[in-house]
Amino acid sequence: MSSEDFPTDRPAVVTCGLPYANGDLHIGHLRGYISADAFNRALKTLGQQSAYVCGSDMHGTPVAVNAEAEGVDPETFALRWHDQYQETFPQFNVEFDNYGHTHDDTNTALTQDIVRTLDEEGYVYEDAVLVAYDPTADDYLPDRYVEGTCPYCGAHARGDECDEGCQRHLEPGEIENPTSVRTGNPAEYRERTHKFFRVSEFADFLTDFLDGLEGTSNARNQPRQWIEEGLQDWCLTRDMDWGIDYPGSEDEDIVLYVWVDAPIEYIASTKQYTERVGAEAYDWAEVWQHDAGGEIVHIIGRDIIQHHTIFWPAMLEAADYNTPRGVAATGFITIDGKGLSTSRNRAIWAKEYLEEGFHPDLLRYYLTTTGGLQQDVDFTWTAFQEKVNGELVGTIGNFWYRSLLFAYRNYEGTPDVAVSSDVEERIEGAIGAVRAGVNDYSLRDVGLAATRLAQFGNEYIQQHEPWKLTDEDPEQAAQVIRDCVQIAKAVGVLLEPIAPDKAQALWEQIGETGSVADAHLEDALEAPPRTFDEPGEIFEKIEDDRVEELEETLEEKIAAASEDDEDEGASESEAETETDDTADDEAPRMDDDTELEPLATDRISFDDFQDLDIRVGEIVVAEGIDGADDLARLEVDIGLETRQVVAGIKRLHDLESLPGTRCILLANMEPAELFGVESNGMVLAAGEAADLLTTHGDAGLGEKVR
Ligand code: MF3
Ligand code: ZN
Repeated sequence: MSSEDFPTDRPAVVTCGLPYANGDLHIGHLRGYISADAFNRALKTLGQQSAYVCGSDMHGTPVAVNAEAEGVDPETFALRWHDQYQETFPQFNVEFDNYGHTHDDTNTALTQDIVRTLDEEGYVYEDAVLVAYDPTADDYLPDRYVEGTCPYCGAHARGDECDEGCQRHLEPGEIENPTSVRTGNPAEYRERTHKFFRVSEFADFLTDFLDGLEGTSNARNQPRQWIEEGLQDWCLTRDMDWGIDYPGSEDEDIVLYVWVDAPIEYIASTKQYTERVGAEAYDWAEVWQHDAGGEIVHIIGRDIIQHHTIFWPAMLEAADYNTPRGVAATGFITIDGKGLSTSRNRAIWAKEYLEEGFHPDLLRYYLTTTGGLQQDVDFTWTAFQEKVNGELVGTIGNFWYRSLLFAYRNYEGTPDVAVSSDVEERIEGAIGAVRAGVNDYSLRDVGLAATRLAQFGNEYIQQHEPWKLTDEDPEQAAQVIRDCVQIAKAVGVLLEPIAPDKAQALWEQIGETGSVADAHLEDALEAPPRTFDEPGEIFEKIEDDRVEELEETLEEKIAAASEDDEDEGASESEAETETDDTADDEAPRMDDDTELEPLATDRISFDDFQDLDIRVGEIVVAEGIDGADDLARLEVDIGLETRQVVAGIKRLHDLESLPGTRCILLANMEPAELFGVESNGMVLAAGEAADLLTTHGDAGLGEKVR
């Protein structure tokens, strides 16, 4: 780990969460794989050596439950999905340097080796624990074989995760009102002996680790809270036969918990990559060895923060490996404001998207530039169309086509003059924005740097009107077009991490050879070849009637899924076919609400309430205040004027994505000064996570809340 900016002279590895090999992939999964793929590509354009690795998550109850429902043995079942995933990823331009799986020899050996080390170093002990047991089925019920109530937040939860509520990992025995997923019967608790990892001993280590951790703020803040509440030790074994054996306990009916061997696949997969290309080309040891200092970046969904920022770094530290430099946790994709649900078909499936014939780069751009990484994104085809038609077709595609066509017709390619210094500076600025975007883990900034540069290009053409200049001032015309061709090339180089195929198409149109994926950001300033052929249009508009149809189909899906929601009675049998591994039902809350403040007993009059001047506003500027850990400076447009306010949300929100957000402002708050910044109002927010209040209809800016 290092805090020096990217690029560094050590190799990096970028990973995404391992997909459970248990069902079809949907856009919720794709957001993670695409984001990590784009991040890896972006690192490489900075000149950082980097590999992108992943693998299928083969073990555990997520696979076993679904295999059982199909009557197939878990290995056959998981390998089938594994094969399918390997076919699907390239179709979204997700290119892994290595894609293994957790059941292969490399991972099995490495997992046992690491667990043996933990044991030898004294970090493992045996203890009795209550395990859910189904008396009818006469079997133990690990993890997803049992459902019940989360003891922390009261939400309906799975045996090992509060997937619909606070997102916490649950230890065996913790879930309340346990019910067997096998038979639907109430489960009993029986005592068993299991192995435990002393995570609680790592509180200080983890606190320091989190202080140095890069990535998104949610991946630091949530674990800090969990550490404060007190860490529990972590049960490493399960009563199952599908999984990796605990070293030395091969004869017993227990295996390692799936979350032990799954992240180890990050290392195993990197190792396999080195075995394939040779250590001179890429050395896994330089990344993963303790003190080697390689740059490990995990891009994950926000439901698995605890595994990546508590259990995993503790395990790495205890077994003497290097720990991650960055953990970036993406928000969920929602549909109609609700979490995706595979069992209820409330999802856009990967294959459905491909069957529609949309190019993968469109989805890549939409998913990476709509909202910040940690923001939940509510998917609609209309929003998708707006992004594509507005930014990709209208801004980038339009600029590429008009400048290259003009260049081709008048100069058969790139006019033979030097790029003007103004334009060079503007391109350098865009390169800087990409560099900063990568270092901030903001793919949105990376993608939008290209769009903004194309926007500048469009304005540049409009201002200089080269079509008038070809006769009046041919030299000036050649200059303008030379500048535009350079901007077009630069937009291509900058866009490659997000839209690799489209960038490659541009690359070839301007007569470049080889792959734009091998270009570095500085190549954006290198002159393109002197001649090129007639260009074609690279992006295609999505027509309204197509979107209307898609929205209709989606609405039908949503309606059917909502009927299922109401029909909860059938959920027992349904749970058996559940293949979901992200959120189900309502978009989960981020916070624990077990410690609600008691209600106020003093009542206020309506007049007292009327004294509060509360208005609808829109955040137009949001930036951190230097020197203040928690404070952000916001400018909020409240119709009548724009107010500057200081809000304690710096670590809780992705500030870059706040502009454009509706909020509620207490406008007659006494002015105050914090860190030298005047605060003239108060933005209302709920709970520890400062969930910002907003409106849900079409109230105008400045309207009073009453
Ligand atoms: N399969 C897990 C999930 O979908 C993710 C595993 S990520 C790893 O939630 F860290 F374990 F690799
Ligand atoms: Zn919970």
